[in-house]
Amino acid sequence: MRKKLSIVGAGNVGAAAAHWAASQQLADVVLVDIAPLEGKTKGKALDLMEATPVLGLDVRLTGTSDFADSANSDVVVITAGIARKPGMSRDDLIGTNARIVKEVTEKVVAHSPDCILIYVTNPLDAMVYLGYKVSGFPKQRVIGQAGVLDTARYRAFIAMEAGVSVKDIQAMVLGGHGDDMVPLTRHTSIGGLPLSEFLRQDQIDAIVERTRVGGGEIVKLLGDGSAYYAPAAATIQMVEAILRDQKRVLPVTAYLQGEYGLRDMFMGVPAVLGAAGIERVLEVQLDGAERALLSASAASVGKTLDTLKAMGF
Ligand code: NAI
Ligand code: 2OP
Repeated sequence: MRKKLSIVGAGNVGAAAAHWAASQQLADVVLVDIAPLEGKTKGKALDLMEATPVLGLDVRLTGTSDFADSANSDVVVITAGIARKPGMSRDDLIGTNARIVKEVTEKVVAHSPDCILIYVTNPLDAMVYLGYKVSGFPKQRVIGQAGVLDTARYRAFIAMEAGVSVKDIQAMVLGGHGDDMVPLTRHTSIGGLPLSEFLRQDQIDAIVERTRVGGGEIVKLLGDGSAYYAPAAATIQMVEAILRDQKRVLPVTAYLQGEYGLRDMFMGVPAVLGAAGIERVLEVQLDGAERALLSASAASVGKTLDTLKAMGF
């Protein structure tokens, strides 16, 4: 039997994620959105379904506003919520998105009690925390997507600056999905060689800064929403790691209980992703400067969590 992937929120990220998932024949895909948008959701799914004969893809795509259609999903991706506009930070979305994330999580888990949840909705680190509390799922089955996207941006900028293939860049960005995320420059290599063999320190510093504000750069350029192709591709890389039990080592937003000195919060850390979800959080050795950056990022995530809790969630 084919795997089942449901994507809640059939907007920009959700629809692009359905596209990437179908193109890799990962699973049958159910797109779920609100009732007033049912026609649009069905239309997007049918349009994608009609592309499958052209591309020779054996997957079914359906659109719905009824969460019952998502029943018994293996993985559920949650993108439901509003996206930021120019001038807004991710944290400005918290009130609206917390209400939506709570509501959709309750509906999803009622129909798919054994699924693995991947959250995308911003502010990411707080929304995945809320999803964890509302779902009651074990921590291995509640994951946030941010680090794969942030690392992809970092790798893209390095490839563009160094004039090399993106395929040869090994890197990882940790921390919260905010402007103080932590690209690990000391652990970044190109074809196994240190980054410093290819780029000067001022070039590396500029890439780190561009990565941190990479989401905002796209928001400014688009003018009416936020990024979706790269976020969707990043999310589907995580879905693939789970559905194909790949044991990929990826930066994911995970529940921490003492790892990196952090407790009762979600934040981006390296982990092994496979059929069970987060199979292992990896604690890499950080130097003093890296630890300080990670602590600053954790402090920002903590502030957003305090706001969430003060709102009664
Ligand atoms: P969008 O506005 O295009 O799509 C959001 C969809 O969610 C809409 O179709 C809306 O109708 C739907 N929705 C709202 N309430 C719902 C409910 N109760 N049930 C089902 N669907 C519901 O927004 P976009 O660009 O797809 O972004 C979605 C979210 O993902 C935003 O919060 C954005 O900030 C976040 N995001 C996070 C990224 C990350 O790396 N973690 C990257 C990109 C976006
Ligand atoms: C991004 O980084 C909006 O969080 C989203 O593009």
